[in-house]
Amino acid sequence: MELYQRIFEICLQRGFFCPSAEIYGSLAGFYDYGPIGFRIVEKMKQLWREKFVIQPGFVEIKTSLILPKKVLEASGHVKNFSDPVVFCKKEKKAFRADQLLANYGEFHHFANLEELKEKFKKLKILCPDCKSELSEPTTFNLMFGTTAGAIDPAEVYLRPETAQGIFLNFKRVFLQAGSKLPLAIAQAGPSFRNEVSPRKGLIRLREFEQMELEYFFNPKKPEFEGFEKFASKKIIFKLNNQEKQELSLKQALEKKLVPNQIFSTFLLWQQELFLSWGIDQKKLWFKIIPKQELPHYSLCNVDAEVSTSYGEIELSGTSYRTDFDLSSHQNYSKENLEVLDEETKTKFIPHVIEPSIGLDRSFYTVLEHCYREKSKTKDWEWFAFPPAIAPYSAAVFPLMKKDGLDSLAKEVYLLLKQNKIDCYYSDVGSIGKRYARADEIGVPYCLTIDYDSLEKNDLTLRFRDDGKQIRLAINVLASKILELKEKGLTSLEQ
Ligand code: GAP
Repeated sequence: MELYQRIFEICLQRGFFCPSAEIYGSLAGFYDYGPIGFRIVEKMKQLWREKFVIQPGFVEIKTSLILPKKVLEASGHVKNFSDPVVFCKKEKKAFRADQLLANYGEFHHFANLEELKEKFKKLKILCPDCKSELSEPTTFNLMFGTTAGAIDPAEVYLRPETAQGIFLNFKRVFLQAGSKLPLAIAQAGPSFRNEVSPRKGLIRLREFEQMELEYFFNPKKPEFEGFEKFASKKIIFKLNNQEKQELSLKQALEKKLVPNQIFSTFLLWQQELFLSWGIDQKKLWFKIIPKQELPHYSLCNVDAEVSTSYGEIELSGTSYRTDFDLSSHQNYSKENLEVLDEETKTKFIPHVIEPSIGLDRSFYTVLEHCYREKSKTKDWEWFAFPPAIAPYSAAVFPLMKKDGLDSLAKEVYLLLKQNKIDCYYSDVGSIGKRYARADEIGVPYCLTIDYDSLEKNDLTLRFRDDGKQIRLAINVLASKILELKEKGLTSLEQ
């Protein structure tokens, strides 16, 4: 069994995620998060906020999920946001043309439909499922369209990225923020794409969550405040689609792999964020997108990629979007979106650098990279989540549900809650089973109230990774857990 199949089974059993509308047979590309998965993704998002939003001059907004057609005409999505598709002539099935070509060793960047048609003809590609003939490649727009209103309904679309809502709010937020650049506006929330072949669980969805940031700056001032602190930090770049090289941000700039300090800092922040989520550094790199594959509006794109049992997956894209979006919205809306350069007294449209991270794919990657098989010391599969994203920081157990052990355990549970430590209480089953259940969802600390606790007002704290225990006075418990969590300690001898 492949790892992703096992992870999927575990996720269904343990409340991480499941297909949405499951009792009706579900629809490809839509998933629901269960009680455990939901807690983890919310904590992952919180760490993104701490890294990408809680910064001087950075703000976060929440914008509409539905946008008028005009907005998406201006952004180019109505015309260009398409995938090449082919249809099976025998069965009602659609396939991404570029993905079929990849099966033939042709990693074709889709730039020209005619070229694609030629390739299909030449290679005589058949339906991968039933070997029947395929239609000619055509394009399929990935946006979900609908209408708004009962009279003269307006044509609208579900947003295909959170970014457009940010561009639409730029002028207002800029004025509120004191009309100063640089200005960073972030947004986390759902995006929708009518993917031709949603596959691989959470990897290619039709509804998914993005965490995006648009950093607006004067292109004549591409410096990033405090960059000296980051300049010597290293990340692994993937060049020319294959060769990997570890380089400091300074070296990457000298080699002109990235356009400026802002762009390189965001790559580093992404690496730091991914590692804080528990993604394995050895399986993470940043791929420089070759010039010929860049979207028309971008001067540079770098994708964060990871290796998983599904293969290599893109977790995020960082793009130098220049003034493309604001200029285009200015043209279409006739609203002036220029800002004033105080020094030169000239007006210009700010440039934008955008780190855009997918939450669902990242969550799946965290599951794979933190998954641990049964071993000599643990007869169950478990997750080594960093405490910062574990669904609960602690579990509180009375050894027995009697003799006052349960009421003391409930007091401990309340004490932790008052200290804003998220925990759960359980008195069901043997203590060994309760430890196993906690490990299975990656809870880092189990706290057990036993008979000694009644006399000494203490308890045992069991570390998840090595199962070792220490005794701890209840009056220092909250501060100890916060300290362990802060240091990310999950075994006694770490
Ligand atoms: N605003 C830029 C933008 O949307 P993108 O590369 O299309 O760029 C950014 O998307 C990230 O969103 C991707 O790196 C990926 O993590 C996530 N993403 C995109 N399409 C997705 C899909 N169909 N299912 C799940 N995640 C997706």
